[in-house]
Amino acid sequence: MTRRIILDCDPGHDDAVAIMFALGSPDIELAAITTVGGNQTIDKVTRNARGILALCGREEVPVYRGAERPLLRQVETAPSIHGETGLDGVELPIPTVAERPQRAAQAIVEIVRESEPGSITLVGTGPLTNLALAVRLEPAIVSRVREVVIMGGGIYEGNWTAAAEFNIWVDPEAARIVFDEPWRVTMVGLDVTHRALATSDVVDQAARINTPTGKFFVDLMRFFRVSNREAFGFADPPVHDPCTIAYLVDPAVVVTKAAPVAVETRGELTAGATVVDLRAPAPANCNTRVATQLDRERFWELVLDAIARL
Ligand code: RIB
Ligand code: CA
Repeated sequence: MTRRIILDCDPGHDDAVAIMFALGSPDIELAAITTVGGNQTIDKVTRNARGILALCGREEVPVYRGAERPLLRQVETAPSIHGETGLDGVELPIPTVAERPQRAAQAIVEIVRESEPGSITLVGTGPLTNLALAVRLEPAIVSRVREVVIMGGGIYEGNWTAAAEFNIWVDPEAARIVFDEPWRVTMVGLDVTHRALATSDVVDQAARINTPTGKFFVDLMRFFRVSNREAFGFADPPVHDPCTIAYLVDPAVVVTKAAPVAVETRGELTAGATVVDLRAPAPANCNTRVATQLDRERFWELVLDAIARL
């Protein structure tokens, strides 16, 4: 059954792969892209989202600009990982379609309101500022959204600090709002996405696709490999964000379990940490699930198949 999604993202090299994965998957309908400041400023990530759609020939997908900064904290970007443009290492075509006039939170509310109850899945692959603003703007979306799936957090791992993952760290107050609402939230965290490594074999397979989108993936990974090696010591870059799409396309690829998730917003050393309570059994009313395993081979098979379809 097709999953109709709104993808809230901060492209970003791995967000770009998630966008292509969603566009090329027959099981996904990308209803809209909303952008949020994160990997780079809101201007840059919004331009990048439009450029990726232009490269894929899919500018019919509407783009809505989102929050310029976190709810309370200052803007923090990640040029060490994604470069000054947010997509260093690749050339993007000039988009021909403008971003839509509505802002992201407003667009999320309007699309959810206009859609059948339970038909829209919100996918967040950046800081969760827009999703938090949307649920504060219209609390009724909680009962109408099918599921919220986010790339963020970690059960045992951090990356931006020892305790926190970047998306949550940038706006922990927004993340707390999203996790604390009574909708179904699935957290695809670093414990799983650190296994989604773009090895040279994966990149070679992408090069053999021999299309502009296949080349785009190869170029993305060339830069992402160097930045992740220099910043985190990875031999191969972890491609975090498309793991959310894989979970929607084939839940067997991303194993999850029910577990309460709380977000630390006050810790001097632990702000942005996702505190996952794995004590069994999970409470009967637990509305959150966390990803625990990834079938890496099947994951890359799905990603590259989707890119080849574009
Ligand atoms: O920590 C990894 C996450 O932060 C990914 O979504 C990456 O794109 C950045 O947004
Ligand atoms: Ca991202």
